[in-house]
Amino acid sequence: MARTRIVRRWRRNMEIGDSPEDKAYAELLNTLSEGSVRRNFNPYTDIDWDSPEFEVIDNDPRWILPATDPFGRHPWYRSQPIERQIEIGMWRQANVAKVGLHFESILIRGLMEYAFWTPNGSPEYRYCLHEAVEECNHTMMFQEMVNRIGADVPGMPRLLKWVQPVIPLVAGPLPIPFWFGILAGEEPIDHTQKNVLREGRKLHPIMERVMAIHVAEEARHISFAHEYLRKRVPHLPRRKRFWLSLYVPLVMRILCSAIIVPPRAFWKEFDIPRSVRKEVFFRSPESRQMLRDMFGDVRMLCHDTGLMNPVAKLMWRICKIDGPPSRYRSEPARQHVVAAA
Ligand SMILES: [Fe+2]
Ligand SMILES: [Fe+2]
Repeated sequence: MARTRIVRRWRRNMEIGDSPEDKAYAELLNTLSEGSVRRNFNPYTDIDWDSPEFEVIDNDPRWILPATDPFGRHPWYRSQPIERQIEIGMWRQANVAKVGLHFESILIRGLMEYAFWTPNGSPEYRYCLHEAVEECNHTMMFQEMVNRIGADVPGMPRLLKWVQPVIPLVAGPLPIPFWFGILAGEEPIDHTQKNVLREGRKLHPIMERVMAIHVAEEARHISFAHEYLRKRVPHLPRRKRFWLSLYVPLVMRILCSAIIVPPRAFWKEFDIPRSVRKEVFFRSPESRQMLRDMFGDVRMLCHDTGLMNPVAKLMWRICKIDGPPSRYRSEPARQHVVAAA
């Protein structure tokens, strides 16, 4: 029966066997799992929320948006009075944290859905659960940060909020598109946070601590998503790989915009001219470059797993996220760092 064949193939795809390739994959998962045991953070013992230096006070210039933020470097923002820049900065940073935790909530549910079906003895089960634990801690940490900042931010765009309940359900039957969707959320957040930390400006201690913790743990999550896909994608039938190659740039672009572009409430709240919005997201050359830089690692993954063909390349271009692949993971985009300085 066709249906049992589909189920059998689906189950087979979850098995990790004795081939050298599978053994190397299992070893890598064990290393990641052990890393999670050795180095992990707790949002309430590793961040001293109640210490005086963590206090959120009025008119604190450390909340002004950094120059690596496309909105933060726009002349309109720079020309606002300092108090206004602080107010906008707090709102924007709180909202990015809120979108981040919304994404993580989807990811946690998807990890559970996937792990539910893994066979006994699978090293994926353990790693997925470690990752879910870490993401639960991140959502608490981000929510605490939003609460402390005190801006009542909405997070994700409304449409995505309506769609999100079904996304985790995809993780069981269609794990590959699900994991690409996760990368589409993790890569832009990670890239942005690393750029802000590299810029080295004086940040509010809450921001600095939260970002440092997040970047440290995120490295493992992104490794897992990359390895998961590297193991499976090359073995997909050619036709499936073709559709996947078109889906990847699309999902990267859509989810990246959901994170980077502030929601409608932001533009209304601060009465920001439409022209500024259009220019910042994404007409100015710097913001276009930033968009491209975010996905160097995903382009590398696509190159290596057979997801770059002429039509896919066109799709990357239409989505405005084309460019050279990274030579190694998290290679800094030199051009962008120079532009930000
Ligand atoms: Fe996270
Ligand atoms: Fe993560």
